Amino acid sequence: MIAPHGGKLVDLTASEKKRTDLISEFSELHSFVINRNLAQEIDNIAQGVFSPLEGFLTRNDYENVLSRGRLASDVPWTIPIVLDIDKSEVEGASVGDDVGIRLNGGPIATLTIEEFYTYDKKEFAKSVFGTTDTDHPGVAKIQGMKDTLVGGGLTFLNHIGNPYPDYTRSPEETRALFNKKGWKTVVAFQTRNPPHLGHEYVQKTALSMVDGIFINPLIGKKKSGDFTDDVILESYKALMENYYPEQTATMSVLHTEMRYGGPREAIHHAIMRKNFGCTHFIVGRDHAGVGNYYGPFDAHEIFEEYPDLGIAPIKFRSFFYCKKCGNIANDKVCPHEGDDIINFAGRKIRELLSNGEPPPLDMMRKEVANTILNFENPFIK
Ligand code: ADX
Repeated sequence: MIAPHGGKLVDLTASEKKRTDLISEFSELHSFVINRNLAQEIDNIAQGVFSPLEGFLTRNDYENVLSRGRLASDVPWTIPIVLDIDKSEVEGASVGDDVGIRLNGGPIATLTIEEFYTYDKKEFAKSVFGTTDTDHPGVAKIQGMKDTLVGGGLTFLNHIGNPYPDYTRSPEETRALFNKKGWKTVVAFQTRNPPHLGHEYVQKTALSMVDGIFINPLIGKKKSGDFTDDVILESYKALMENYYPEQTATMSVLHTEMRYGGPREAIHHAIMRKNFGCTHFIVGRDHAGVGNYYGPFDAHEIFEEYPDLGIAPIKFRSFFYCKKCGNIANDKVCPHEGDDIINFAGRKIRELLSNGEPPPLDMMRKEVANTILNFENPFIK
């Protein structure tokens, strides 16, 4: 089985005894409230999805991630996982103290404060997203962050609740599952959309080369106009029930937010899937892109900078439907162009679905389209 990123799978879940003790002492700690997205990241750190991280980045790691896409230890890491606070929220707490972290009043974790530091939001945005344009959803999010970052290690106390327990597996669980299935090579597929035929072809072409595919839709905060989590999950269930062999394909969801970071997010996506036990990772056209901030294959090129990543990208050119070939193809395998080509344009598919019309069968499976059309409003407001 492939080694986790950084060598060991992080597990911050306290033993039941320690957890009971910590929860009973929790009320004596200075504590503060975080939002659900941050609580979700704590959950991810605790279960090893973000291995080797054991807490929120301290300044040295943060600066290395920004400047060279690596932790100070040299381990590849491209997206800063940071905790932003108002200094007043932790008034009286100093470096070395344990503080409590709450969500909706309930204890989530404790944090041993290692460092407080300030940061430059423009530098953060430019390094990670390649732009400081606040129309970019990732940049807008940074703009809204609080002014101080606090770094330090976590002890995990409680999960945050999850609407999809049947489709949620920790890295330990996916690793056990792949092992049970006898898969030595596993390709992961990241997605934030219901599947069109381009997605299916990318997946099946990759699957032809390995033992199994792990479909891993991202569930969590996304921008308005994207599909809702329920739509993504239900439409994949419809696709897999009808068109995927159980022996070679499985799905669970990844609870984290979309950052729309293009190439840097592609590396981050690959690292999480390595922790889930995957050996390969699909990177297609405009992976994790938004608007025109990234070139369609920027996310392919960045992998050249990470020969030590430990999970192999499988890169695909854009798939389209070719009327002349009468099948799905891309420019590596098909010589046709112009009017012969129908691209899987997300905008077009969304437009048809919002008018209550199924996309044509050479774009989307009817079971998938019907599933989406059953939702009154498939899009995030
Ligand atoms: S993403 O933000 O998660 O990347 P999406 O769910 O659309 O968006 O894409 C999932 C994966 O499929 C990404 O690796 C993306 O590059 C790839 N992909 C999407 N459409 C195509 C296509 N037509 N041809 C090749 N790859 C594609």
